[in-house]
Amino acid sequence: MSETPAGRHAPHPPLLDVRGLHRSFGGVHAVRECSIAVAPHTITGLIGPNGSGKTTAFNIITGYLAATSGEVRFAGTRHPRPDPRRMYQAGLTRTFQQARVFPELTVLENLVVAARRDVRALFGRRVTDRDREQAMDMLSEFNLAEHAGKKASALSYGQRKLLDFAAALISDPRLVMLDEPTAGVNPVMIETMERHIRDRHDRGVTFLIVEHDMNFVMRVCDPIIVLNQGAPIVAGSPAQVQADPRVLQAYLGD
Ligand SMILES: Nc1ncnc2c1ncn2[C@@H]1O[C@H](COP(=O)(O)OP(=O)(O)OP(=O)(O)O)[C@@H](O)[C@H]1O
Ligand SMILES: [Mg+2]
Repeated sequence: MSETPAGRHAPHPPLLDVRGLHRSFGGVHAVRECSIAVAPHTITGLIGPNGSGKTTAFNIITGYLAATSGEVRFAGTRHPRPDPRRMYQAGLTRTFQQARVFPELTVLENLVVAARRDVRALFGRRVTDRDREQAMDMLSEFNLAEHAGKKASALSYGQRKLLDFAAALISDPRLVMLDEPTAGVNPVMIETMERHIRDRHDRGVTFLIVEHDMNFVMRVCDPIIVLNQGAPIVAGSPAQVQADPRVLQAYLGD
């Protein structure tokens, strides 16, 4: 590993490197000059007041929304126009603020589709016993095994969020982006979620987490990036972010 002049090891290049993203809706600049770097093997937090552009940034990075300008690099590859399927196949998965599952598929089928990174896996004879086994293992891990045969629409809100999370993990991703994983979820399930995040992180998965629950963020995430009005204003450790007056000011609104 190379040494910096200061004698410390040079940091790893970011796993996700987003530069100068811009996107507006009508007159609203949802994200502007938005640059975010996520170092490998971190649990990076992305926080900011309502409407500060967190979900819009997620949508651009994962290819659900086109940026007007800016660049997304993931794992060293430039993605001039990220596309959800391609990003998924490159090892970047996500959950949605409102958990997105296929409501008419069974809980098990939802995971099979996610594992294969392709809904077409369900057609023809491409679903093998091994696929089902892997999906069942995941459901057991998430205490959802008893619901395997139910339609996903029959799950509670919290269970759907867990399923969405399990689906984001089953394809062995390198980076998982979670948009408000604990919102509307009961405390026991929040603990479950936190345990799974830490467990996967220990196994080498990198996380980028948008979350409003500050206790959760300060406990789990390091570093933390703060967005305000579409652009990052502060990035640092939980202690640095908590001590920075610009953060409080952003939340109070100026
Ligand atoms: N599809 C859209 N059409 C019009 N305006 C939008 C759209 N999506 C987002 N916006 C606007 O862009 C800004 C950023 O929204 P975004 O959802 O990215 O914020 P956020 O930080 O995720 O907020 P929250 O914490 O409430 O989820 C807001 O002013 C929002 O109203
Ligand atoms: Mg949002």
